[in-house]
This record gives sequence, structure tokens and C-alpha cells, in this order.
Amino acid sequence: MLILTSLVELRHYRRALTGAFGLVPTMGYLHEGHLSLVRRAKTECAHVGVSIFVNPTQFGPAEDLSKYPRDLERDVQLLTAAGADVVWTPPPEEVYPLNFQTWIMLEEVTKPLEGKARPGHFRGVATVVAKLFNAFTPDKAYFGQKDAQQAVVIQRMARDLNFPVDVIICPTVREPDGLALSSRNVYLNPAERHAATVLHRALSAAKAQYEAGERDAEILRATLSSTLATEPLVREEYVSVADKETLAELTLVEHGALLSMAVRVGKARLIDNFLV
Ligand SMILES: Nc1ncnc2c1ncn2[C@@H]1O[C@H](COP(=O)(O)OP(=O)(O)OP(=O)(O)O)[C@@H](O)[C@H]1O
Ligand SMILES: [Mg+2]
Repeated sequence: MLILTSLVELRHYRRALTGAFGLVPTMGYLHEGHLSLVRRAKTECAHVGVSIFVNPTQFGPAEDLSKYPRDLERDVQLLTAAGADVVWTPPPEEVYPLNFQTWIMLEEVTKPLEGKARPGHFRGVATVVAKLFNAFTPDKAYFGQKDAQQAVVIQRMARDLNFPVDVIICPTVREPDGLALSSRNVYLNPAERHAATVLHRALSAAKAQYEAGERDAEILRATLSSTLATEPLVREEYVSVADKETLAELTLVEHGALLSMAVRVGKARLIDNFLV
């Protein structure tokens, strides 16, 4: 597996390739969720590239940028074993040159949920993903359903800006007890790790209620909230039953919904979701 850091080298490498190229953008500290994206890309593309870049512009001023977990050596081993062909690990100044001032901002879909809780987050995400699309010129790009609003944002941006890329959203990989894999799970101590299973329990309870015929979104939100409230170590930030495309909160669930939530557990902020 080739390891590149400069944009010039990446472009040079990419220009020589023929056949479909698949891109998996990550912030590193890889887990089975990331590797599932790499394996899916391997089945659909002749070449698979992975970016490892802890994107400073998607972190708020009070967020965990400087403490974000990193282990490039381990990441390289995992990606080599998974069969990736190239990894790009640019330094921040390679992505954001001096006097950088061009941003991608989406309107309605970035207003609620994570966009409301993390102002500026999706400006950073959309901008870095646009730059990764320009750097790699992938035919297909792979993202996880765990970050449901990000998936909607990236698909919207790719269509709106005519990026010639298929955006493919892959299922959330979970621990056996239901906790969605996340690099930020390392922040949890054993008691918090145990408490964090309540996200999956809450989503499962609301899904079961939906499948039993409940269509009142407020009742489904109440089920999410009351289940989270059974765990004293978990503090709800928001729960949502929203339209899958617009992400607007629903009153009546008529054509399915995105059930989603964000919570605080100790030092970690965790998100999870189900599509129903
Ligand atoms: N459990 C998972 N299952 C499937 N895809 C995932 C999972 N976790 C993350 N991904 C996807 O991997 C890609 C890179 O995500 P990222 O590097 O931010 O990892 P992360 O685990 O979400 O880290 P963090 O929780 O700190 O943001 C994104 O497309 C994300 O949706
Ligand atoms: Mg993430």
C-alpha cells in the first residue's frame, strides 16, 4: 500500500490509473466501521484510496480536535490488511493553504440536528469532502450511515455541484451489544461504555413501536427520550424523528423516518440513528 502526503504526488499517482476508483474518507483511528467501507469499496472498484485527515475545520472551538485519537502506524497496518491501494495523510497546510477562504455551505439540510448542535461543523465537512473529491477524483465514495445527516449532506452536495461521483452509504457497524463503532468510543470508561448501550436500546424501542403501527412522531420521540433517561450516566442532547431527505421534524410518520439522537456520556459525545 502506497502512503502519500502531498497533493502533487496523489494527483500524479491517480492520473496513471485506469478502472474505477473508490474513495473512503476518514479521520483515522480506524475501526471495523471504516474497514467495512474499505471492503465494500474493494468489491466495487479496481482501486481503493483512503484519506486519513483529522479535519480541523469541522471541529468547534470547544471540541476535541487536539485530543482526537490518532495512531497512524496501526491504521496503516489495518488498511494494508484490508487491501487498500493508497492512503493519503496530508498535513493541515496541504489541505488549507495560507489565506484559505473558500467554503461549501448547504442551506436547509445543515440547519437541524448535528448542524444546530455543532455550528460550522457541516461547513467543514462539506468543504473537506469537496476537496477530497477534487484531489482523488473518485468514481465512487463510501460513507457510513452512522453519520446520517452527513450522508444526506454529502449526497446533496455531490448532486448540487455535479461531482461525477456515486455516493454510497453503508450500514452502521455495531458492537455485539448494539453500540455503534466510533473512534470516540475510546473516551468511555467501563461504566460509561456499558451505559452507552442505551442509545441502541432507545432506537430499538422506538422502531418496535413504529413497526407495531405507531405513527405519531411525538410519541416516538418520547420513547427515545424516556429510554435514554433510564441511564443516569447518559445525558440527552437531542432526539429526533425527521423526514429522511429534508431532515425536518415530523408530526406524523407517513413515508418512513430517520430516528436519531445525540447524547453526552462522560467526555464523549455519541450519535446514533435508525432508518424506519
Ligand atoms: N460504526 C460505523 N459503521 C459504518 N461506518 C462508520 C461507522 N463509524 C464511522 N463510520 C464512517 O466512517 C467514515 C469516517 O468517519 P470518522 O473517521 O469520523 O469515524 P468515526 O468513528 O465517526 O469517528 P468519530 O466518532 O470520532 O467522528 C464516515 O463516513 C463515517 O460515517
Ligand atoms: Mg465521525
